[in-house]
Amino acid sequence: MNAVKQFSKPEGFLGRLAGRLMAFKNRKRGKWAMELLELKPTLDILEIGFGSGRELGRIAESVASGKILGLDHSHVMRQQAEGRNRKLVKSGRMNLKTADVGSLLSEISDRNLDRVYAINSWQFWPDQTKAILDIKTMLKPGGMALIVFQARGKDANDAASRAGAVKLKDQMEKAGFKEISVYEKDLSPTIAVAVRGVA
Ligand SMILES: C[S@@+](CC[C@H](N)C(=O)[O-])C[C@H]1O[C@@H](n2cnc3c(N)ncnc32)[C@H](O)[C@@H]1O
Repeated sequence: MNAVKQFSKPEGFLGRLAGRLMAFKNRKRGKWAMELLELKPTLDILEIGFGSGRELGRIAESVASGKILGLDHSHVMRQQAEGRNRKLVKSGRMNLKTADVGSLLSEISDRNLDRVYAINSWQFWPDQTKAILDIKTMLKPGGMALIVFQARGKDANDAASRAGAVKLKDQMEKAGFKEISVYEKDLSPTIAVAVRGVA
């Protein structure tokens, strides 16, 4: 099994290892995403492609009473994220699902969410246009979507991250998002980009 596969759909022992690596290596990117989400105590939030679950745990520090939902198609990542957030899962405040983003609307019934976000997961989605439209359907009017992308792999460079932002912005515009903003963060090995829109 190749290395990219362990980040697009972590499985088995190597997948568990990839999850631990994500939790350790992606801290700065995750922290930046949390700032862009403008968290408040009562928000209902969904993360798509939660990986190790570290960011979901961080959310709980700022969101005292809202729902914290997650969807990731990797069973191994769900186990790891639930292990990392045991108390929140046990209390019922955090609810994680194993499913492909393509079944978002059937897996999660909420249509009134305040925030939906994804961090370096979008590039793996089989139908990005549909997923971005589905995200808009799940948000309440005025709710916010945030998609973060950082080009990775041996040919990754800043231009590839920026090209991702252009594509994402176009997908959000076509889905009908308003007030779309693009952000950049200087990170290694390439910049990260974030595209934020209001439903
Ligand atoms: C590179 S990891 C990033 C994890 C985490 N967001 C982070 O920044 O550390 C990508 C995550 O997205 C998930 N993922 C990729 N494609 C997906 C899909 N089509 N549906 C649901 N989850 C997906 C993977 O299983 C993996 O956990």
